[in-house]
Amino acid sequence: MRNIILSEDEIHSICKLLGQQLSTRYRFNEKPPVFIGVMKGALPFLMDLIKEIDIPIIIDFVQLKSYNGTESTGTVSLKKDVSVDLKDRDVIIVEDIVDSGISMIFLVDYLKKKYQPNSIVTVSLLDKKINRKAPFELDYAGKEVGEGFLMGYGLDYNELYRNTKYIFIPDQEEIASWDEILNK
Ligand code: IMP
Ligand code: MG
Repeated sequence: MRNIILSEDEIHSICKLLGQQLSTRYRFNEKPPVFIGVMKGALPFLMDLIKEIDIPIIIDFVQLKSYNGTESTGTVSLKKDVSVDLKDRDVIIVEDIVDSGISMIFLVDYLKKKYQPNSIVTVSLLDKKINRKAPFELDYAGKEVGEGFLMGYGLDYNELYRNTKYIFIPDQEEIASWDEILNK
């Protein structure tokens, strides 16, 4: 049985609420703010979130590389950079989940140093606060979650199962069946 942590309806409500808050925050901006999705996990969330934003925005993407499977080792690097110059712009980093906090700390620091943006705020659909290994607080979090490996709606298990409309914790039986798929 899949233990559903965030249903399609709940995700929609979160996107609506965050979309309104972010629209209000940047409504009178001179330059459109830049929403940066962290690939690949944040793509479904970014795409649903931006549909709830009613001001002019720009979207862009980065991809991070972290050196392990399911747990953070603390070593992060950039695999793909943005394609827009962020200098003096307001930047919103959009993540699927913040776990240890190491990826976000790395990315905020990297973008600040390289582009000198006007501001950076961080948004994540899920916040696994309990697992923080470095001090990091999100500006906007959809839902705080406990320990346990989450899947779906962008979150993967060895690249599989990003394509569900909800987020869940799989049971052992299901994980075993995926390992079989992965071994093919
Ligand atoms: P952090 O650097 O530990 O905060 O890791 C953040 C990244 O790890 C997220 O963007 C996800 O890609 C991945 N991640 C963390 N927890 C989970 C999970 O429960 N399921 C799937 N991916 C996760
Ligand atoms: Mg991610």
